[in-house]
Formats: sequence, structure tokens, C-alpha cells
Amino acid sequence: KMNAFINDLMKKMTVEEKLGQLNLPSQGDIITGLGTNDNIGAKIRKGQVGGLFNIKGVDKIREIQRIAVEESRLKIPMLFGMDVVHGYETVFPIPLGLACSWDMNAIEESARIGATEASADGINWTFAPMVDIARDPRWGRASEGSGEDPFLGGQIAKAMVRGFQGKDNSFSSKTNIMACVKHFALYGAGEAGRDYNTVDMSHVRMYNDYFYPYKAAVEQGVGSVMASFNVVDAVPAHANKWLLTDVLRKQWNFDGFTVADYGGVSEVVAHGLGDLQTASSLALAAGLDMDMVSEGFLTTLKKSLDEGKITEAQIDTACRRILEAKYKLGLFKDPYKFCDASRAKKQIFTKEHRSIARRIASESFVLLKNDKNILPLAKNKTIAVIGPLADSRSNMVGTWSVAAKLDKPSSLIEGLKEVGGSRTTILYAKGSNLLSDPKMQQDATMFGRDIPRDNRTEEELTKEALAIAAKADVIIAAMGEASEMSGESSSRTDIGIPDVQKRLLAKLLETGKPVVLVLFAGRPMTLVWEQENVPAILNVWFGGTEAAQAIGDVVFGNTNPSGKLVSTFPRSVAQIPLYYNHLNTGRPASDKGFEKFRSNYMDEKNGPLYPFGFGLSYTQFEYGDIKLNKTDLDANGAITATVTVKNTGKTEGAEVVQLYIRDLVGSISRPLKELKGFEKIKLKAGESKTVSFTINAELLKFYNSNIEYVAEPGEFEVMIGTNSQDVKTARFNLK
Ligand code: IFM
Repeated sequence: KMNAFINDLMKKMTVEEKLGQLNLPSQGDIITGLGTNDNIGAKIRKGQVGGLFNIKGVDKIREIQRIAVEESRLKIPMLFGMDVVHGYETVFPIPLGLACSWDMNAIEESARIGATEASADGINWTFAPMVDIARDPRWGRASEGSGEDPFLGGQIAKAMVRGFQGKDNSFSSKTNIMACVKHFALYGAGEAGRDYNTVDMSHVRMYNDYFYPYKAAVEQGVGSVMASFNVVDAVPAHANKWLLTDVLRKQWNFDGFTVADYGGVSEVVAHGLGDLQTASSLALAAGLDMDMVSEGFLTTLKKSLDEGKITEAQIDTACRRILEAKYKLGLFKDPYKFCDASRAKKQIFTKEHRSIARRIASESFVLLKNDKNILPLAKNKTIAVIGPLADSRSNMVGTWSVAAKLDKPSSLIEGLKEVGGSRTTILYAKGSNLLSDPKMQQDATMFGRDIPRDNRTEEELTKEALAIAAKADVIIAAMGEASEMSGESSSRTDIGIPDVQKRLLAKLLETGKPVVLVLFAGRPMTLVWEQENVPAILNVWFGGTEAAQAIGDVVFGNTNPSGKLVSTFPRSVAQIPLYYNHLNTGRPASDKGFEKFRSNYMDEKNGPLYPFGFGLSYTQFEYGDIKLNKTDLDANGAITATVTVKNTGKTEGAEVVQLYIRDLVGSISRPLKELKGFEKIKLKAGESKTVSFTINAELLKFYNSNIEYVAEPGEFEVMIGTNSQDVKTARFNLK
């Protein structure tokens, strides 16, 4: 039915109208790149626009759709896209934080709510999930992905796609929108962590690690794929036929459409492959279907066609894919399917969505240190909340929350007051500016993120903070990054807490009062000094619109923290890239510290400050030994690995039980360990549970030097534990 409909429609289309379907301008209220488009109405009437993005509001979208379906010759409805990355108006934790919940139901639910709200407001397409593996925390967009691990990233990619598109990808419900996995490919591997920078990577690493989550999203039926800004094998992804056609379509059977990133087609010019006409024809021929913002397809492909540089069949293929997406979304049947103003009134930022967001936010926080059980705090104390992040509402939601109303979240002070109740006294002092450099503070607080510059001197601010601290039983230091210090184009070379805040923290510690660092972060940070000196550290990322209350829930012990890191926290920037699933090298470091002629540093350990999978709880968990039901695995068989976990503390808590495997001998060097399974369990005080993992040959497969996906016979080590370093071990053999 769909094919017949689209065949009929395409017969009526001129080449120019086909090219119009491939054009995706940015227009409206939200800025996510350089420049916007003028004169959209006229272009739509001429059939020169296939979709628009960055518009907010059902009434506006309805009117634009009306122009398309009433005033253009062929009345083709439009796609309306937006970066619904971690929620719409109800904002969830930044994806890096969300991933630390290791809770696939919660992650799916967050995407579902994002889709419900966005679709109520006219949006039918989201540029999410972002699944780029990030092993370099200097990269600002580490905040937007699920960390460093392919396996976990793959599970999260699937959960997000299910949440956006629905479980069966049928788009039968008005609350399902089309997802777009991005950025294909390797965007997280830019050299030196600088955004948009060159990537150079072996195919073995690509296939085994970096490709994994994109492929998982494709397997889940994601409707679209966005190209990345970087080069892959020296060819810009936007013009990379191997990537967009051979890998994506031929090897993975992707049948949706591909879209450029913002201006990505015109950037092929800067990459040095030719002018805009050449860039556009290369991109189309490579398998790029939709051109975001550059208007290279719209303005040059007809000329290229006339000059014989591309074929009409290539244009048809791309056009058909866009029309198919519109058909699948049900837009030909009802162009206003997502333009129901009454839904917009009822389904956005609801009480129910917000209470789910609060629960999920508390699941994303990672307790990094808790000496002498300082946390949770009793609700009858005087608490001095000090730091530049204490009194900001807009900075609770983190980067890429483009639809959020930034005045809606409570500030940390407000959240603590609300949850602490009448017996808790909250005092406040700003204590320091966010950054000592005013220009950098301005850059770090753009897009309406309010941390106004305080013109008092550092001494004056510190003095005031110490006077407030003197009146308190305990100090909460609200410090770290502001929202816009991570995200797109927010790479940093110093990933510690900014110096001016650190100096304040040192002064607060000198008071001798208990200090809890509530750390706001959009990336793994370097915290060696803090780990040595601050008694309690709760990493809250950017938790979304309900973050302040969720932090209150955890600080006062209504909720026991259960988040586990999904990225290694390095001790120093100089160790980067640092990730748990690395190879052994021929000269691994010894346990005894630096040794000449080994792979180590004279002045720093090799290992991280906090390893992948790490996170504390208000209770303790004890792991029994691993039991394997057998130690020989047949190619078609399975082994069950079980472990018993006991809550030995006094509070109920949740634990993420993690399974890692090492392939001890292979045809290529294999990682020291790889995450291959996990289960999040809840245990009452004193309770034990047995967790089982099934291990089969499929789980042991990897891409060898010939890029064949194989499981090689031999010995394997299985590791189960509370984080990637603290594990029990056992061995088995694959026959
Ligand atoms: O979707 C984003 C992408 O992740 C980065 N550049 C802009 C796009 C559209 O807003």
C-alpha cells in the first residue's frame, strides 16, 4: 500500500519538488547551530521544504503544516524535528546521568514521556538518541551519551528507541515519534576531545566498540540516522559511502532515512572535498537523504543532475525514503496528527511526568564518597548551602534541554527546603563566582543559564560564606560545572572543579564542619584532591526539572542512592583516554608502582580515581563466590553463572550486579574485561538474592582482523561484582 501510494505521488513530482523533500531548514525559536533560515513560508509554498526543526509550539507548527498541505502544489505534509534528548518540558537527567541509573525501564520511560510531551506540541521527529561512545571527558558532548561502554550503550540505545517510537515501531499511537540515532559515526572519538575534530580509528575498534550502539538502535528499528561532523577514514561522514551505504544499509539492513547534522553538507567544503555543489553530490551519492540547513541539495543537485554528476534515481531513492517516513508516521492520512492543541494543554509538564522525573533523577546520582556515613543528613539540622550552583534554577536541567522552561525547576536551596521540611534550617551564601575569568563565565552561562556575575571580590565572597558556615551544623558545597560547560562545542582541557570554587571549598573544609560536596557535572571530572579532602561527594550531574527535590530525597535519605558510573573518572587529564575495557599491552604495569620498561607513568598511576561501574550506597552489599553450572561451553550451549548478593547494612538499597568477561586467548588482542550483562536488584536490609547470567557463544563474539563476527574456542574468565574493579572471578572453556 505504502509503495503504491508513494509511486503515484512521485510520478507527479518534478525534480525540484523531489529535492524540496530533501531540504530541512532550521527555523524559529531554538538555536542549535550557526544561522537560521528566512522566508520559510514562500519556500514551503513552492514545495522546497521537506521538514523543519527548532520550532516550538503546537499552534505555530499547525499553521506551517497548513501552508504545506493547503498551499503547496502537491500538499505533502512536513516533518517537524527537535532535539528531544532528555525530555521535553519535563526534563530528565542528562543522558550521561540517566545511563548511571542502569535502569532500562526508567530510561525507556523517560523517552516515552519526552515523546508524549513533544508529540502533544506538534513534534513528530526527535534527534535522539545520541549514542556516541565517549572515552574522552574533555569532549563536552560526553554529557549527551551513555558513557564509554558499547554493551551498556547498546542496551540504552534500544530502550530509548522503544521509548520514542513505541515497542513495535508502528507509530499507531499519537504519542510515538520517529527517533534518529546519532551521530553516525565515531563522533565521540575526536582527537584531544575537541568537538568536531578529526577521528582516526582501526576498523577492529570501530566494529567492536564504537559501532555497537548505532547498530543496536538500527536493530530496534530506529527510523532515521544522523551523520556525524567528523571524518571516518579521512572521508567526512556526510560524504562517506562506505559508512552510509555499505555499513549502514548493506551490512545492517537499515531501511529508514539518513539526515545531515546542522550544516554538515556544507562542512564537506571545509573538509576539503570541493565546493558546495561537489559536496552535495558526494553526499547524495554516499547515501545521505536529507540536508539539514546547508541547502546544498536544494540549490545545486539539479545542476549536478543536468551535468550528469548524479542520477535522478539517486534523488528518487532519497526522496522515497523521506516520503516513507512521513507515510509511516501517518502524516498523509492526517497531517495534523501531532497538532492537537488540547493535548498540548493536558500532557506537557504534568504532575505525573514530574514525579516520574524526580524518581529517575534520584536514580542517576552517584555517591562517590561517604566517610563516616555523613549522608544522609538528619532533618533537624542547620545546613549552610554554599556555592555558585546553589541558587540557580536554569542550571538544574543541563545541556540539550531545548524545550525546557528554564524558570520552572527549583533551585537546590528551594529543593532542600521543601524536602527538609520545617525542622531543617537552610542558610545560603554564593561563596564564589562560577569561574574566575568573566569571559569564560559568560560563555559558560549562555542561553539564559542564570549565574549572574558577582562583582564582589573573592575575599568578600569567601568572608560572607564563612560567616554563614559558622552558623551551620553541616555545609553543603554546591559546586562544579554550569550546564553550558558541557554539551556541544564545550570541550575543556581542565576538567576539574574551577579553581575559584576549589579555593572556597578548601576554606569551607578548614572550618572543621562536615562538608558534603554536591557536585554538578556534565562529564567525568578530575577529583583527586576532593576525594582526599572532602568527606562526602554526591555527583548529581544535571538532574532535570525535578533535580532539586531529587537531591533533597537523597541528601535526607528518603531515597538510597544507587547510580553507578558509566565512564571512568581519570585521576588526571594527562591519562586520557582512560577506559576500563582496554587491552593489556605487551608490558602491563605492575601492581607495585612505577617500574622502568613497563607501560606506566613516572608521576601518576595508570588506574582511575573512580572506575567504570563504581557507585556507593547508604547500605553495603556482600558478594558470594561465582558458581558456574558447568565449565565447558558448547558452541550451541549455555553456561549459567550465579552469584548471591547480600545487603549487609541497615537500609534497603538497590545494587547493579555487573558481569564482565575476558577472552584470555584470541586471534587478536582482546580487552582485559568487557561488560556482558547486568541486573539491578533491590534488597531489604539483611536480604540476599541470587542473580543468574546466561553465557553463550553469541555473547562471546567479536570482530576479528577480517571483520568477521566470531567466537573463538578457548579459555574465558568471568567476573561478577559491584564495579569493574571489585569482582569475583571464575573460568570456563568454549569448545
Ligand atoms: O541534533 C543536533 C545535533 O546533535 C548537533 N547539531 C545540531 C542538530 C540539530 O539541532
